[in-house]
Amino acid sequence: EHIEWDAEAAEKGGFDTYMLKEIYEQPQALTNTLIGRLHDDTGEVNLDINLDPGSFKRISIIACGTAFYAGQVGEYLIEQLARIPVEVDVASEYRYRDPLVSEHTLAIVVSQSGETIDTLEALREAKKGGAKTLGVINAKGSSMTRELDDTLYIHAGPEIGVASTKAYTSMVSAFLMLALWLGRARGTLSEEQGAELLRAARELPRLVEEALAPERVARIKEVAEKYATARDYLFLGRGVNSPTAYEGALKLKEVSYIHAEAYAAGEMKHGPIALIDKDLPVAVIATESRLLEKTISNVQEVRARAGKVILFLSDGDTENARHADDVIYVPRAHEMVSPVVNAVAMQLLAYFTATALGKDVDKPRNLAKSVTVE
Ligand code: G6P
Repeated sequence: EHIEWDAEAAEKGGFDTYMLKEIYEQPQALTNTLIGRLHDDTGEVNLDINLDPGSFKRISIIACGTAFYAGQVGEYLIEQLARIPVEVDVASEYRYRDPLVSEHTLAIVVSQSGETIDTLEALREAKKGGAKTLGVINAKGSSMTRELDDTLYIHAGPEIGVASTKAYTSMVSAFLMLALWLGRARGTLSEEQGAELLRAARELPRLVEEALAPERVARIKEVAEKYATARDYLFLGRGVNSPTAYEGALKLKEVSYIHAEAYAAGEMKHGPIALIDKDLPVAVIATESRLLEKTISNVQEVRARAGKVILFLSDGDTENARHADDVIYVPRAHEMVSPVVNAVAMQLLAYFTATALGKDVDKPRNLAKSVTVE
């Protein structure tokens, strides 16, 4: 008994929980995702996959849970940078909806474990229709990797905490590289744009390290504790960061059991605005972006209805701080890489809310790390 406890404590490497350990492992995990794949000198991305980037006309991204939200960021990045039509499906729907697949389809499955049954069956469905298949996968040699044409390993290392953290940011980074590679190969991205994004991608481990600086973590803990007794939470984001809002809400639900919803901020007026009152914390991702001004006008709509605004702003944005009840500053990042940096703040908010409520974050009720039965 005693020995077992020691072994587990040692595995947690001085952290109270696997989840927190894995949150802090992200700079290293991202380094491992990116390493050897980005070539500054030539502006090339080398993914070591056999896929012919000109051989398909559309992309279907298929996944479950957190991996699905990584896929949604992927959709945005690939459409923006490589101008290929992309659709994203939850695997449990895809496998039964008789999807339109052809040999001009590239199906990308996203999975930490490589074992999720719905995703595996969706992969088989795509293959049946003649699609080429690529996996964005963490676990080496997992079931999916044995059936895929090609695998882009994210190399995040083993993830034990049930709530996915480092696998998510590594998946998103893998999609960034994929979008860059496709964009360069298909001629939709100039050398200059490619080089700029490549530099931004390279910055990610350092930016995430910065996002984990003690004073930033302490600030998020303080805000989390302030709102930990809320019954509900709303998360808003726009553009490439709307999936960040969905993932933020999912993380909070998973570990704190607080009911949380997320919307693309512009959609708020079409329903969720009815929920807003003085007891509703609204977490808004309002970091530097093309749509920042629009996000801020959504924030003003929340405030006009007495909602409590927690604003995630880029460092130095003191101008917009006045629209918030609480501000959390995050390191300034290129918009296209910001979902990775912003996700870290979402994870910490969920984590400290759950621990403030005394929840066991590593073993959330009713959840399994990997769901291998339907
Ligand atoms: C389970 C886990 C989630 C995970 C999802 C997909 O539901 O609790 O955290 O995101 O499966 O898992 P995968 O291994 O396919 O990424």
